Amino acid sequence: MTTGTGSGAGTPALELTGVEMHYGFVRALDDIDFRVHPGEVVGLLGDNGAGKSTLLKVMSGAHRPSGGTLRVHGEEKVFHAPSDAAGAGIQMVYQDLALVDAQDISTNLNLGREILRRGPLGWLGFVDHRAMRKRSEAELDRLGVRTAPMTRPVEMLSGGQRQVVALARSAIRVSGASNGILLLDEPTAALGYEQTKQVEALIRQMADNGIAIVLVTHNLPLCYQVADRVVVLNRGRKVADVAMSDTEPDHVVGWITGARPSQFHAASA
Ligand SMILES: Nc1ncnc2c1ncn2[C@@H]1O[C@H](COP(=O)(O)OP(=O)(O)OP(=O)(O)O)[C@@H](O)[C@H]1O
Ligand SMILES: [Mg+2]
Repeated sequence: MTTGTGSGAGTPALELTGVEMHYGFVRALDDIDFRVHPGEVVGLLGDNGAGKSTLLKVMSGAHRPSGGTLRVHGEEKVFHAPSDAAGAGIQMVYQDLALVDAQDISTNLNLGREILRRGPLGWLGFVDHRAMRKRSEAELDRLGVRTAPMTRPVEMLSGGQRQVVALARSAIRVSGASNGILLLDEPTAALGYEQTKQVEALIRQMADNGIAIVLVTHNLPLCYQVADRVVVLNRGRKVADVAMSDTEPDHVVGWITGARPSQFHAASA
């Protein structure tokens, strides 16, 4: 079903080894090994509280792991902040989207890369809204994303439209970086049918352009549509890591609920 070039060969775009994360006494991640290759989509599944968002936050520099190592394109990295991860080509779309409500779509898409007006007004920091709108329209066109008019304030969008804007913003940023890595936490949670299809297509298109993608979702059909491989977490441990084409939905659900034994650990309490 998927045509990803990321078959798992070569140096991973992102590789975590033995990652641990403790919140006080809560062990949110326990000895996690994880990798995603350029052009590959890895679905990261697990029940509520399994550790999915925590793992993405470690990858995105939002959390320092209590142990373990992280490599980006083979090079060991320590992230002190999300800006460090962004500098290494990693973009994350959070479960709680970070959009500026009072501003319009175009302004949100251009945050941090504003185009200044020519001449004295630009020297004073005045931005060129028309130029930014035109650029964003072209970028969305290229990504095949349709949304509300550029001038509409984000606070007037539906939950699903906001999600599409947040995703498109990260997609635009990561497309600019070579060897980009995109981390998505529940990108379709609020989406209707049409928008879910758009996001599916966007994910596949980005992967085909060589972006490595980690997709956290509770939506198993979405995983079967777009993912090359699936990793399942259960109470902070990795219990499965398999090519999507080698597995059946029943098995994946079994790993999520714990009904099916882990591929990696002997059965224990
Ligand atoms: N900031 C925090 N402080 C303390 N404990 C936390 C914190 N964030 C998460 N946890 C705990 O870590 C564990 C993993 O949480 P995480 O948010 O990673 O789960 P998740 O798999 O993303 O779940 P969901 O599907 O509900 O989003 C849970 O037991 C949670 O209560
Ligand atoms: Mg979560």
